[in-house]
Order: sequence, then C-alpha cells, then structure tokens
Amino acid sequence: MIERTLVLVKPDGVQRGLIGDIISRFEKRGLKIVGMKMVWVDKDFSKQHYSAHIDKNFYKGLEDFIISAPIVAMAVEGINAVELVRKVVGSTEPKSAPIGTIRGDFAHVSYEYADKKGISIKNLVHASGNSEEAEQEVSLWFSVEELFNYKSANQDYVM
Ligand code: CDP
Ligand code: MG
Repeated sequence: MIERTLVLVKPDGVQRGLIGDIISRFEKRGLKIVGMKMVWVDKDFSKQHYSAHIDKNFYKGLEDFIISAPIVAMAVEGINAVELVRKVVGSTEPKSAPIGTIRGDFAHVSYEYADKKGISIKNLVHASGNSEEAEQEVSLWFSVEELFNYKSANQDYVM
C-alpha cells in the first residue's frame, strides 16, 4: 500500500522558478520526500528514462526539451503514491488538465500547438505512470544510498 514513485520537475519548471511551488503541492498533500537532487541529463539518459517513447513521433522534441536545462528529481512516498501523485500532477496536456492540478494551474499549452511547432509539450512535471514504472524509474534515478528512511510528521497526523 505504501509506495514510492518518481517525480521530476522538468526544465520548464526549473527555468520558470516553480521548483518550490511544485514541491509544496506534494508536501501539502502529506507525501514524504525520500530522495531529491538536481541533475542535468544527457541524450543517453533520456533514452533510458523514456525508453517506452523512443519510437514515438514526439520523442525527438521530448529529448531536446528534457536535456535543455537541469531537472529536479524526487522520490516520493505515501499511501498509493503512484496514483495520488498522478492526480496531483494532472493529465499530460496542460490545456485540458483540471484546475487544481500542477499542470492545470501553472501551464496551458495544447497538443495542437506543440505538434504544429514540432516541440515537446511543456508540462512542468514527470510522474511515474504505474507501480512497475515507478519501481524502475526510482532505481534508474536514485541509488540505494540516495534514498532515506526517516520519520515525518505525516506518520502521526496524516496517515
Ligand atoms: O508525462 P506523461 O506520463 O503524462 O505523458 P507520456 O504520454 O508518458 O509522455 C511523456 C512526455 O512526452 C509528456 O509529459 C510530454 O512532455 C511529452 N509528449 C509530447 O510532447 N507530445 C505528445 N503528443 C505526447 C507526449
Ligand atoms: Mg508517462
């Protein structure tokens, strides 16, 4: 029931100065950050992280975007954290992402606009899509030594 999932503040979130706003959405929901670092990834790492998307027509734009500036990576823990984090993040296209989600509150680009320009959808955050993806992605981005077990107030007052 308690899961760990990967959250990335993508280059647009870092460059727009939204790291703090984005992290606080997860903290306020009572999720526990168990790992965090800033990383500037290269093309090889992008292909590992987005291996499921390499053959898609949007991959080139996605790779250009993801290597364009540093990323803040977080491992986030909580009850059914994978599903919960996806809800906090909102759907992939900011134009249609519900208000109250990160993508729905801080971004607005549409698939149509990005496709016409041949660029990636700038949607601020990556979050693992399912439990299997979450396990793979947390171990791709974090070594065992970079993940921490500690007591948070959530354990007494949220959970
Ligand atoms: O990030 P999420 O799991 O919501 O979406 P995805 O389908 O796994 O796609 C990964 C990322 O590729 C998205 O977050 C977008 O940044 C980008 N993408 C895009 O630029 N154009 C698309 N048609 C689909 C995805
Ligand atoms: Mg995905």
